[in-house]
Amino acid sequence: MTAPAVDLRQITKQFPGVLANDEVDLTVDRGSVHALLGENGAGKTTLMNVLYGLYKPTSGTVVVDGQERTFDSPRDAIDAGVGMIHQHFMLVEPMTVTQNVVLGNEPRKWGGLAVDRERAREAVAELAERYGFDVDPTATVADLSVGEQQRIEILKALYRGADVLILDEPTAVLTPRRSRSCSRCSTNSPRPARRSSSSPTS
Ligand SMILES: Nc1ncnc2c1ncn2[C@@H]1O[C@H](COP(=O)(O)OP(=O)(O)O)[C@@H](O)[C@H]1O
Ligand SMILES: [Mg+2]
Repeated sequence: MTAPAVDLRQITKQFPGVLANDEVDLTVDRGSVHALLGENGAGKTTLMNVLYGLYKPTSGTVVVDGQERTFDSPRDAIDAGVGMIHQHFMLVEPMTVTQNVVLGNEPRKWGGLAVDRERAREAVAELAERYGFDVDPTATVADLSVGEQQRIEILKALYRGADVLILDEPTAVLTPRRSRSCSRCSTNSPRPARRSSSSPTS
């Protein structure tokens, strides 16, 4: 039997004076989409920040892909295949779509001396195609709509090899039409061909 993609066990997060998460269990199977519902302040973002390595749980266990994990930072979570798209985007507006997606993980050439822009652009175009995102890799992010910028954030997480995507209030910034297409893309997405030499399944 395959392990769930994510298994949060008895997660408690205590802030000074606020018990944000009180022994929360959450199991997410591969290929499934979950929505966390709760009023403002219920602790949804906190729980996801624990899964993304931004907060350490006061107690409880984070299991990703069948392995118990201790995340000291989002870098560790990303290495374990967890990606998060925050409500407020973290894109560099004057830069292109490609530059944003590969930022910090640029393909290199000349023995690592230079960024391989061609390969970066191809990788981003291929990823966009695989997930059915209609984006121009050469566009400047500042010129894109909020809905398009959100897709760039998603592509960025996928480029870093995310198997598990966390979207914090993804529809809050979108128009109703964009919200529907956001839900469609989360239910339709093929699994990324990550860390595997096999070809994409799409
Ligand atoms: N960094 C923090 N420091 C102290 N309290 C926090 C922090 N982050 C969240 N909280 C508190 O934890 C509770 C849960 O917040 P949050 O997880 O943001 O809820 P939700 O995302 O469900 O609206 C709230 O009472 C909030 O004020
Ligand atoms: Mg929140």
